[in-house]
Amino acid sequence: MRVVITGANRGLGFAFVEACLKRGYDVYACYRKDPGSLSTLHSQKLMRIQVDVTDESSLNAFQKKIQDYNETIDVLINNAGVLNGRDARVEAVEVNDMLTAFQVNALGPLLTVKHLLKHMEESNVKRIINISSNAASLNHAYAPDYPYGMTKVALNMFTEKLRKEVEGRGYRVYSVHPGWMRTDMGGASADISAIEAAEAIIQHFIEAAPEGAHTFYDYQGQPMVH
Ligand SMILES: NC(=O)c1ccc[n+]([C@@H]2O[C@H](COP(=O)([O-])OP(=O)(O)OC[C@H]3O[C@@H](n4cnc5c(N)ncnc54)[C@H](OP(=O)(O)O)[C@@H]3O)[C@@H](O)[C@H]2O)c1
Repeated sequence: MRVVITGANRGLGFAFVEACLKRGYDVYACYRKDPGSLSTLHSQKLMRIQVDVTDESSLNAFQKKIQDYNETIDVLINNAGVLNGRDARVEAVEVNDMLTAFQVNALGPLLTVKHLLKHMEESNVKRIINISSNAASLNHAYAPDYPYGMTKVALNMFTEKLRKEVEGRGYRVYSVHPGWMRTDMGGASADISAIEAAEAIIQHFIEAAPEGAHTFYDYQGQPMVH
């Protein structure tokens, strides 16, 4: 099983790397700039690779490497994300915060799929897991935090559209809320550890995998409302 994980140098992404290596999976651990905690792991199953999900040239270089090695990707975990401009009320929203959040949280997963999908076609697993948030639920909207919620909704729409586009080709495509985790993003007082979230997501969406048209779930495999 070969898994690609974006934003893998810390937080949930790093926890996915550890949990996948523990299972004996081959892992492409993508980091934006600095391998960070990835440098502490030593495994022949681990490939560290620099990928900024907002930069098509870095995604293209990654794609070429997979092509040169003639490798198949079984699982893509679009994990990289930013939480920025949280406290700005509507009168103070910064365009750059909105654009950055859109580029990383919504466009990043789309561009990653754009470059890697062709390397998943031969897999008999074919899972695409977009790490979303309960902040994407329209029913539970809160204010302000405009960049994050709006871009995670866009991510969920990408998941829905992608599921429709690849229908009948064996893919399972999900948006998954990982829970409130103790990471740099979630803070120290959050509910769960990143490893708990990673283990549960692997169990519910890689080892098992719900079928059907619903795409939005929490990390414990419970359906969520958009
Ligand atoms: N923590 C929570 O409670 C929580 C709750 C709901 C959803 N989530 C979602 O879960 C995912 C992981 O969150 P986390 O808590 O682990 O966050 P985190 O600790 O802030 O880590 C974010 C990761 O995303 C990477 N990243 C940011 N921009 C990138 C880019 N342009 N290209 C590639 N990588 C990029 C970061 O790389 P650098 O180190 O280089 O910045 C880092 O590895 C995110 O999608 C987040 O929205 C988290």
